[in-house]
Amino acid sequence: MTTPHVRLGVIGAGFVGRALVQMLDDDSRQVALVDGATATLELVGVAVRDLTTVREGVDSSLLTDDPLSLAARDDVDILVELAGGIEPARTWIETALRRGASVVTANKTLMADCGTELAQLAHENGADLLYEASVAGGIPIIRALRTSLAGEKINRVMGIVNGTTNFILSQMTSEGRDYADALKEAQALGYAEADPTADVEAFDAAAKVQILSSLAIGTALHGEPILREGISKVRSVDVDYARRAGYVIKLIGVVERVGEHGLSRRTHPALIPIDHPLAAVHGAMNAVFIEGDRSGPLMWLGQGAGGEPTASAVLGDVLHAARNRVNGRHDVPFTVDDRLLSVDSGDLSSVFYLSIDVRDEPGVLAQVAGVFGRHNVSIQSMEQSGFGQEARLSFLTHVALTRDVTATLHELDLLVSVDSIGACIRVIDGGGA
Ligand code: HSE
Repeated sequence: MTTPHVRLGVIGAGFVGRALVQMLDDDSRQVALVDGATATLELVGVAVRDLTTVREGVDSSLLTDDPLSLAARDDVDILVELAGGIEPARTWIETALRRGASVVTANKTLMADCGTELAQLAHENGADLLYEASVAGGIPIIRALRTSLAGEKINRVMGIVNGTTNFILSQMTSEGRDYADALKEAQALGYAEADPTADVEAFDAAAKVQILSSLAIGTALHGEPILREGISKVRSVDVDYARRAGYVIKLIGVVERVGEHGLSRRTHPALIPIDHPLAAVHGAMNAVFIEGDRSGPLMWLGQGAGGEPTASAVLGDVLHAARNRVNGRHDVPFTVDDRLLSVDSGDLSSVFYLSIDVRDEPGVLAQVAGVFGRHNVSIQSMEQSGFGQEARLSFLTHVALTRDVTATLHELDLLVSVDSIGACIRVIDGGGA
């Protein structure tokens, strides 16, 4: 019997693409594919933007600058898409799937935007669409949710799924840097892009939250926006306050069941208790923390980006797709639960950290406290620090409705004694995030 031969085309030869090509070249990784069949993998083409750039470790005879033709080639059994973005990546992927080739992608933006439709297209054509590397790079969270946790009712997922923002917040916490300085350091080290918007304004994390939600709870992937707040407004004073109060500030992505069919998907900075496992995730590391009904708490920790960790996740998917192909099968798409309804964020409850700069005059505190009381927001603790004629008031509330806290801040903003609203950050505690 001849050994089945599975041929790969790769679009993109950046850090991840090059690491993948090198891993494919490593004989020891030409593993036996399970289930009684073995196969060899052969790389038959690598599509790049510019053919003149020298790419160490990539055989130049495999290079093409025509990704669409690579996706359409009859002899490509598995297309690996590592270019990112929505178009033209979507067209390449659809081209490959329509002719029955499987696709492995790291493209979170595309999966969040139209993953349900693409997964259906793959299924209709007897192909796989695998995207382990799209969330938290080298952490194998997608397959864990798809297989090991398939029978679990997952109540909440909280993830640190953006390494750049975790690096910036870690620098602010451990080195006492301010936001602008920590961002510059992240850019110098290659974590943050020259335009850091996708990371610091949490677009990257939001796409990952949508993907986690589809697998953990069963939401469709069709680009529905979720609550998204980035870290650019987090100040050193907030980080300092959090530390004194026993917390650390992290950008978290949350997927949470609310009641029978309600759900909340969001990404925002949060105060995490210092003894929570996510508080110990430092630097550019990623982590995903899951609260299952029967499994209890679970956590994965690892590299969320970088050539080799991400390529490792991609290669795992390639081998899975190759095994499926050799055995004449493919994975079915994830199940969508049509009964799920997103809860209005105003209806969510949380403890909040609020910081307000006020005039330091008699009666101001009473006035401020009155506004909290009128909106049914109960104060758990208050700290005042003075500077000249001004004072900063930092509050931790008891669990309060988000809409009540928002109304409180709007009314406070109208008071002449209030100079500015500095922070409004949710606190993770037993009562929710
Ligand atoms: N820019 C992302 C991060 C990695 O900083 O984690 C790719 O999703």
